[in-house]
Amino acid sequence: MKMQSVCTVSILMFLFVQAANGRQLRLALEDEFNTFNLSLWKHEITLSGGGNWEFQAYLNNRSNSYVRDGILYLKPTLMEDQIGLANVKGQPNGFTFNIWGGAPADLCTQNQFYGCERVAGPANEWRYLNPIKSARVRTAESFNFKYGRVEVKAKLPIGDWLWPAIWMLPTHQQYGIWPSSGEIDIMESRGNSVEDYPFGGYESFGSTLHWGIDYLHNYFDQTHVTRTPNVNLTEEFHVYGLIWNETYIGTYFDDESNIVLHVPINQSFWSRTGLQSPPWDNPWKDTEMNAPFNQEYYLIMNLAVGGVTGFFPDAPNKPWQNGHSHVANQFYDAKDDWYPTWDGENSALQIDSVRVWTYTDDDNSTGSSGGIMVSAVSSAAIFILATFAFLIAAN
Ligand SMILES: *[C@@H]1O[C@H](CO)[C@@H](O)[C@H](O)[C@H]1NC(C)=O
Ligand SMILES: *[C@@H]1O[C@H](CO)[C@@H](O)[C@H](O)[C@H]1NC(C)=O
Ligand SMILES: *[C@@H]1O[C@H](CO)[C@@H](O)[C@H](O)[C@H]1NC(C)=O
Ligand SMILES: *[C@@H]1O[C@H](CO)[C@@H](O)[C@H](O)[C@H]1NC(C)=O
Ligand SMILES: *[C@@H]1O[C@H](CO)[C@@H](O)[C@H](O)[C@H]1NC(C)=O
Repeated sequence: MKMQSVCTVSILMFLFVQAANGRQLRLALEDEFNTFNLSLWKHEITLSGGGNWEFQAYLNNRSNSYVRDGILYLKPTLMEDQIGLANVKGQPNGFTFNIWGGAPADLCTQNQFYGCERVAGPANEWRYLNPIKSARVRTAESFNFKYGRVEVKAKLPIGDWLWPAIWMLPTHQQYGIWPSSGEIDIMESRGNSVEDYPFGGYESFGSTLHWGIDYLHNYFDQTHVTRTPNVNLTEEFHVYGLIWNETYIGTYFDDESNIVLHVPINQSFWSRTGLQSPPWDNPWKDTEMNAPFNQEYYLIMNLAVGGVTGFFPDAPNKPWQNGHSHVANQFYDAKDDWYPTWDGENSALQIDSVRVWTYTDDDNSTGSSGGIMVSAVSSAAIFILATFAFLIAAN
């Protein structure tokens, strides 16, 4: 009898505390890079160049991604350092670069766009291999979440044609392939100096949501902002933040009051497209207004170089033309123009910390994060404390 009432009171107190908590933001991921945690940050291993003929190969190599003194460095280096210039150019008789891998941790992660094997030399009209090595890490296998807050404290790279990015992609692509399931770009920048490149450089960064019914109908320009803070982003660490919930998606710089991208969600993304159904199909029908941004996403951080789909529009000083058949050759043959602007670790995307807060006490919005576990643990502690308190009171 007594035991039964102890339990009843404890359960009531437990439920009360849960309800009183409501929906709270709770730290679900924190990495200050005291070590390089490769079970959290998995490398992409691919030559696919972002589907954009970017010039880098993404590899798992400590020359390109490493942690030192609490900072993660994603640093571009030359492919010729690893395989020699003749092999990059496929001279004299051709060279095949094969990164299929064998052990579980070194399997190629993307074969699309000749991503696991490329040929340089006569068999490929003398196209060069990816002339740059770099790194992209992601949490797709370790940390996915829906709604909350992200803060990445980072220092941007300096150097022509560098393209650093801190962004997110949808884990399960609930509404189909890119961009129907969305993309959230917290920070993208260019390492160029604005004097040399009219489309902007390291003095500014952009935040963007990509969404649309297919890659030809991507309405990102409605949800894209460029910001030029009055500070040197390549000299100091700054916070690139994201607030994401059912009614709002926004980014900020350093402080949450310093808003960059501001997207209140008071209409569906379908209505923002202006498309009619028929003939077009609405991939987000029969779901919430904030679709496609109502599903789990994972984090990605990378340092890309160049590419042909518009991030680097053609300009007089640009060594390659986006429509050319041999863009990597054009880029690498102009190495004397851009390589002197690369400056060792100042050309790395440097990350001091990553923090993600998710909502607790709401299974639907917490995702497969650590937050729910913390919540369960603290709830259990409250339960035990409540039981204890009741027993003391009862005595
Ligand atoms: C590394 O990441 C994994 C996966 O998120 C996590 O469980 C583990 O605690 C982390 N290890 C350290 C030392 O932070
Ligand atoms: C890692 O990169 C360095 C520098 O480019 C290169 O010398 C080394 O061979 C690479 N390691 C592997 C295993 O490919
Ligand atoms: C910004 O900082 C970098 C790295 O210290 C420096 O090379 C560059 O000249 C600075 N740019 C401006 C515009 O101050
Ligand atoms: C979403 O975030 C915005 C900005 O912080 C806030 O005003 C709004 O109340 C939040 N909405 C929900 C449903 O939490
Ligand atoms: C949504 O909010 C924006 C900004 O507050 C406003 O300009 C726009 O008219 C609103 N749209 C609708 C459909 O209410």
